[in-house]
Amino acid sequence: MNKAWWKESVIYQIYPRSFCDSNGDGVGDLNGITSKLEYLKELGINVIWLSPVYKSPNDDNGYDISDYQAIMDEFGTMEDFDKMLAKAHSLGIKIVMDLVVNHTSDEHKWFIESRSSRDNPKRDYYIWREPKNGKEPNNWGSFFSGPAWEFDEKTGMYYLHCFSKKQPDLNWENEEVRQAVYNMMTWWCDKGIDGFRMDVISLISKIDGLPDVDTKGGKYGHCILGTANGPHVHEYLQEMRNKVLSKYDLLTVGECAGVTIEEAKKYANSQGTELNMVFQFEHTDIDARDTPDGKWYKDKIDLVKYKKILSDWQTELNEVAWNSLYFCNHDQPRIISRLGDDSDQWREKSAKCIATCLHMMQGTPYVYQGEELAMTNYPFKDLSDYRDLESINAYNEWKGTRPEAELLEAIAYKSRDNARTPMQWNDSENAGFTTGTPWINVNPNYTKINAAEQLKRPDSVFNYYKKLIELRRFSEHSDIIVYGDYTLLMPEDDKIFAYERKLNGKTLVVACNLSGEKAEFFAPKELALNEYRQILSNYDGEFSLKNMMLEPWQAIVWVK
Ligand code: NOJ
Repeated sequence: MNKAWWKESVIYQIYPRSFCDSNGDGVGDLNGITSKLEYLKELGINVIWLSPVYKSPNDDNGYDISDYQAIMDEFGTMEDFDKMLAKAHSLGIKIVMDLVVNHTSDEHKWFIESRSSRDNPKRDYYIWREPKNGKEPNNWGSFFSGPAWEFDEKTGMYYLHCFSKKQPDLNWENEEVRQAVYNMMTWWCDKGIDGFRMDVISLISKIDGLPDVDTKGGKYGHCILGTANGPHVHEYLQEMRNKVLSKYDLLTVGECAGVTIEEAKKYANSQGTELNMVFQFEHTDIDARDTPDGKWYKDKIDLVKYKKILSDWQTELNEVAWNSLYFCNHDQPRIISRLGDDSDQWREKSAKCIATCLHMMQGTPYVYQGEELAMTNYPFKDLSDYRDLESINAYNEWKGTRPEAELLEAIAYKSRDNARTPMQWNDSENAGFTTGTPWINVNPNYTKINAAEQLKRPDSVFNYYKKLIELRRFSEHSDIIVYGDYTLLMPEDDKIFAYERKLNGKTLVVACNLSGEKAEFFAPKELALNEYRQILSNYDGEFSLKNMMLEPWQAIVWVK
């Protein structure tokens, strides 16, 4: 397998709005990030993925960009950005930018021009269609509820928006649009950034003719059905590689809604003609139902299925493409409240167990801010506590169709705002995130879950993540952890997630009891079990590799 620095990296995602506020306005900012770079250095990561910091009216917290080459007022200035980049580089930390080019803000100058008249030169930068029988051109629904089309009075036509109506989709079929995007990317690369995380890049090429899609009994059909992995997406990404990416040494990861393993083999192919890796959603969508309101349920995760999904990605991509490894990001509820147990009794053990399970796999791991502290979901009660338009729109769309309490409980469980509450730095007011009024409530558990406390406690979740990262990046086992082949053990077991990694005669065995009860682990059937030694466990003691009972949330890693 070809080696590469981006395969050997550990990435930390920062959601700037919620990370650290340096000026007391209640919103995180670039200087706040700069002030915390030593903390990240201590954790051991070497790459930051920065969620969008560009100028934006903030309809979708910066994923609606009005100027790609300017910094959002609340986050600071371009000078602040340059300082942050320079300091990160001096600490050996790279910065990967979020590239949001499936859509812009409706306040971007391209869209302002585009909507101004039917014959404006930028008209074709976006996707405009005539009404059909006085209504939307097709039945596509947006990711954020309601139709994916907005009627524009001025010119009497509809424009497409897969997300909010303030996020019109760019028309990638227009060569000028593509060139404008490449120019902007080149400008950032010349500034010295180290890569791109590409927002919903799998959606940029829409299906020919924009036909109606299956509504699954709802009012609209999900626009993902007409946009994911469209006819020209690979051609566009190859063009992007030729025109921009190939000229720099970058890390590229495509957020690929709707991606299958077969498609991922193209996006992240090991010949390197498109992207380095993709974010897939099969495992995060595991507990969504196949109905129009499918996300908004609190169903239990089926561990056997979950293991199969993650394992299929491991084995299928081996040698032909590259995996990204993640459980958390700014769009997902906290994994500890979903797959783990966020009670005082098991929070730390289960966080370490889940982390072991992910970080010992093949691929490049991503840590989302606060995950390294086992930050939990927020105890949402009142609708007025939400800031995320997806959650608020979902409530308005589905209220009345189901018992109110059940709907609210599901939204509280799945809301993206769970990931967006402020980073918990210490036990002072507002968790040390801001001296002002935070833009979204701080989780009240910050007095017991915070970085200051964990940094000084050797058995904290933070220090466990540090060990996991050290093992992967700096130990004698780095190669097998990064590159080794993967085989799932005990596939039918509904408590234990165990697997084996192999490389050049060396073997690594990982056993994680992802349950709150004791569970029996069956060691691989081989003779030399006594040659294995433990290199990590979240329980005190030395455990030899053999058939054994694992304690609740126990994780052990052995190597031979
Ligand atoms: C995916 C991003 O991760 C999410 O936060 C955003 O709302 C949509 N894309 C639209 O940009």
